[in-house]
Amino acid sequence: MTEFSNRVEQVSISGIREVFEAAGDDAINLGIGQPDFPTPEHARAGAVDAIEAKKTDAYTSNKGTRELRDAISATYDREYDIAVDPADIIATSGGSEALHLVLEAHVDPGQEVIFPDPGFVSYDALTQIAGGTSKPVPLRDDLTLDPATVEEAITDDTAVFVVNSPANPTGAVQSKDDIREFARIADEHDVLCLSDEVYERIIFEGKHYSPLEFAQTDNVVVVSACSKTYSMTGWRLGWVVGSNRRIERMLRVHQYGQACASAPAQYAAEAALRGPQDAVEEMVEAFERRRDVVLDGLEDAGLEVPKPSGAFYVMPKVPEGWCEEVLDRDVIVVPGDAFGANGDGYARLSYATGMEELKEALEIIDTATRAVQ
Ligand SMILES: Cc1ncc(COP(=O)(O)O)c(C=O)c1O
Repeated sequence: MTEFSNRVEQVSISGIREVFEAAGDDAINLGIGQPDFPTPEHARAGAVDAIEAKKTDAYTSNKGTRELRDAISATYDREYDIAVDPADIIATSGGSEALHLVLEAHVDPGQEVIFPDPGFVSYDALTQIAGGTSKPVPLRDDLTLDPATVEEAITDDTAVFVVNSPANPTGAVQSKDDIREFARIADEHDVLCLSDEVYERIIFEGKHYSPLEFAQTDNVVVVSACSKTYSMTGWRLGWVVGSNRRIERMLRVHQYGQACASAPAQYAAEAALRGPQDAVEEMVEAFERRRDVVLDGLEDAGLEVPKPSGAFYVMPKVPEGWCEEVLDRDVIVVPGDAFGANGDGYARLSYATGMEELKEALEIIDTATRAVQ
C-alpha cells in the first residue's frame, strides 16, 4: 500500500487553528494574521481593468509579467535605494510560495535550516517538506534575533538561516547593525540568508533594513508580498528576489509547481505598487495607535511586554494558565508555543482588529490576568 512520505508526516496543521475552533461565535479575535483594512481601490481596479481588457485569460511568463517585475524593482529603488534587476524576481502565490521556493531550491535532505523560535510557523514546516532539519534558535529578551546566536548555530550542514524583520509573532524589528551582521554572516560562512520581509512597510520606530543592502556576495534572498502591506492576503501575490543563478533554480520549482502567479493578482499588485501609497501610511498609523493602546492595557494588567516596533502583533510574557483564562472569556489569543518551544510562557495577540473591540478585549484580559495571578 502507498504510505505517506516521511517528509509530510513530520508536519502537522498549525496549532493556531485549534485555538480558533475552540472559541465561541461571539469571541473577540486577537488571533488574526491579516490586516483588517480593505485592499486599496486602485489595486482592485488594476485587476478589474485587466480582466475586462482580456489580459488575464492566459498564463503570464513563469516569472510574472514584466510590468509587475518592473514595479517591484522600482519599489526597491524608491524605498531602499536597492537596484534589483526585474529578471531576478519571481512573482509567487503569496510570500508562502516564495518561502517554499527558497527552501526547495537550496536545502538537501539532512541539511539544516536555522530560524527564530518563536517564529513564523512555516519555517519549520517548509524545512520538513524540503527534507531538511529544523534548527530553531532562541531570541534575545527583547524578542529580536541575535546574530551571534545564528553564527554559533551554523555548522558544516547549514544550508539556510532565516531572518524575519519585522517579525511574526513578536512584532520585533532588527536594528541596522544586526541586519548588517546577518549579511556578514551569510558572506563569511557562505550560507544563504533567507530574509522574510513581508511586514517591511509596517514599522513604527526606526527604519526597515534588508541584508540585501549589505551583502557582498549573492548569499541573501528576499521574500516579500503585497499581502500585509496592501491588505491583500486573499489575492495571493508575493515575490522572491535573488541572484540570477538562484532565481533560475527557484524558477524550476515554481514552473512545475505553479506555472505562474494568478494573472489578475499580478495586475492588482502592479497597481498597488505603482499607485498612491497613502493607504499604507494610514494603515500603519492606525496600527501604531492600536499598538500603544494594547501595550498600555497589557502593562496595566501587570504583564511584562517587550515593545514591538512593527507588524501588528504583541507578545507578552504570561503566567501559567493565562491563555486558557482568556480563551474561556471569549477572547482569542494564540499560545506562544504554537510558534516554537521557546514561545512557551508567552502569548501572541494581534491588533488587526477595531479599536473598540481591542479596548473591550483589554478589559477582559485585565480580569483574566487577575484571576490567574
Ligand atoms: C512572517 C511571515 N512570512 C510570510 C507569510 C506569508 O504571507 P502570504 O500571505 O503572502 O503567503 C506570513 C503570513 O502570515 C508571515 O507572517
